[in-house]
Amino acid sequence: MKNYKLTQIKKDALVGAAYIARKRAYAPWSGFTVGAALLMRDGRVYLGANYESKLFTQTTHADSAAFIAAGMNGYNTQKDAVAIAVVCPQKNGKPAFPCGNCREDIEELGNKKVHVIAENTLTKKRAEATLEQLLPGSIFQL
Ligand code: THU
Ligand code: ZN
Repeated sequence: MKNYKLTQIKKDALVGAAYIARKRAYAPWSGFTVGAALLMRDGRVYLGANYESKLFTQTTHADSAAFIAAGMNGYNTQKDAVAIAVVCPQKNGKPAFPCGNCREDIEELGNKKVHVIAENTLTKKRAEATLEQLLPGSIFQL
């Protein structure tokens, strides 16, 4: 995002918020809880977590939930989203970036410049990328 200084301390705080979000997940069917924290340009943070249903088609992913939370609190998420941290306990110990559907959501409800921080909760291994790097050459541009 233009002129937004995403310092290390802000990144760390955002990842910390994603850990809090993860505690609020509802994932009895997979047992795989995911937490997300979305940083807005004004400094506010919105949390999201996965909310499953027995019919998996109804499942809300953590990243999407955070965007919906920000939008429902009055933000123009396409303009105001700066960064999102996503944390999950992927077994291989590597940080896991959002799934393909969530990447589409981050682009659609956010923008290509959104900074994505992924951390594995088991190993604390972290990785970072812009949405543009995670979803290059995307289709259906307005
Ligand atoms: N999940 C997310 O919340 N975000 C992702 O990007 C990957 C998958 C959730 C959905 C489901 O509740 C569980 O993780 C297992 O797929
Ligand atoms: Zn997803």
